Amino acid sequence: MSKSKLSQTTIIVGAQWGDEGKGKITDFFAGECDYVVRFQGGNNAGHTVIVGDEVYKLHLIPSGVLYSHPLSVIGAGVVVDPKVLLSEIASLKERQIEPKLMISERAHVIMPYHIIMDECLTGHQGELAAGSTKRGIAPVYADKMYRHGIRMGDLLEPAIFEEKLTKAFSFNKNVIEGAFESRFDLSFDSIYTEYLDYGERLKEYLADTELELYRGYQKGKLFLFEGAQGMSLDVDHGLYPHTTSSNMAAGHASTGSGVGLNGDRRVIGVAKAYVTRVGISPFTTEQTDDVAVRLREKGHEFGTTTGRPRRIGYLDLVQLRQAVRVHGLTEIALTKLDILSGFNPIHICTAYNIGEEHFTEMPASLEKIRRAEPITVELEGWEETTPEDIDNYCNKGYDSLPMSMQRYIEFIENEVNCPITIISLGPERTQTIIRSDI
Ligand code: GDP
Ligand code: IMO
Ligand code: MG
Repeated sequence: MSKSKLSQTTIIVGAQWGDEGKGKITDFFAGECDYVVRFQGGNNAGHTVIVGDEVYKLHLIPSGVLYSHPLSVIGAGVVVDPKVLLSEIASLKERQIEPKLMISERAHVIMPYHIIMDECLTGHQGELAAGSTKRGIAPVYADKMYRHGIRMGDLLEPAIFEEKLTKAFSFNKNVIEGAFESRFDLSFDSIYTEYLDYGERLKEYLADTELELYRGYQKGKLFLFEGAQGMSLDVDHGLYPHTTSSNMAAGHASTGSGVGLNGDRRVIGVAKAYVTRVGISPFTTEQTDDVAVRLREKGHEFGTTTGRPRRIGYLDLVQLRQAVRVHGLTEIALTKLDILSGFNPIHICTAYNIGEEHFTEMPASLEKIRRAEPITVELEGWEETTPEDIDNYCNKGYDSLPMSMQRYIEFIENEVNCPITIISLGPERTQTIIRSDI
């Protein structure tokens, strides 16, 4: 399969706990697309793209922004912190990148009280918290569902904004002071003025993105959807309540962007060759030994958004099977195989033992997940790779990879019943192999 055989729709989604390398894979394809669309999440996401010596850390703007051609779209399902978005735009401009960007007027706005509320919730939830990024994600999605949220378009309509803010401000103030007995020293007037100003500054990007995408779709333009987070963080299908507050299952690309997708599609699940997790939850394959410490250092496993050390575990095929099923993956992009080089043997979890029961599919029960014990197999590792080896593999293709790496890849494919068509051996665009043998 070649890069240029893109379907009209390609959806790139996380298959694990986030940070799988979605930014790299999105950037890899984006140059050939007409639209690159974020459809959920907010600046809890951190997507790293490396081009030559330049490192870009994107939180809200889709990872296609580094190319001049595609239009980057922030869809209605995304939650936008305007202050963060403005600084992301400014930092791209400083680097001579003029973002070709459109933001849905229907996207909800993260307000300062959401960030305070996030802090309060984390304290209140204790053991059941997810270890949020404290960016206001759960509270902004909650306000959207309560139906007193503020949308990006409201920032252009002072009277409507005042009407809505009056309700949302007092609701949040009452909960923060009353239910959480926390300090709330925000001023209505300063928020009102500040956010109208953000609206003015972002006005040039605000549009009816749904209509724009519809028209592009009718004309046969190529669409790339960039998911944030990953399967186990999906609010319905993940390890609830240790999730985020949006759906990143690929099916949500349509609702989160407002364009009906009825043609062919590729759904690419990005999976790391091992597993990382930032935040709180049971983590069945977690390792805390020397191997985990070495992997964290070698793989630079520290959060892009918060800098927190990522917890490390071996590959979990129960998790990956769920991602294949729920996202409807047509293929997997397996990243960071270079980081596993030199580790021998390599463990993979194929199923869970929970009490007397054996699970090959993810249970819904939190009680069961807390008791899950991984059933693992050991596979032979491969030797440490040098940058020259990686260049060589990427030039020559899949068959040049060490046999034990090929066996690792094919073992996963067989177990989860999904082809691994993209192999990533480094953070750069060029450090990527597209399988031609399947
Ligand atoms: P995302 O949130 O899924 O976009 O992933 P992040 O960007 O948060 O984290 C993935 C990290 O791994 C980034 O620093 C990437 O530059 C890096 N990365 C992606 N793919 C590879 C790979 O195949 N090998 C190595 N060594 N690094 C990679
Ligand atoms: P990308 O797109 C990894 C995790 C947080 C926490 C839980 C809820 O870079 O893969 P939230 O702030 O959303 O309420 O936090 O979700 N989390 C992520 N972990 N990568 C991400 O995004 C994440 N976005 C949220 O650590 O456990
Ligand atoms: Mg990330």
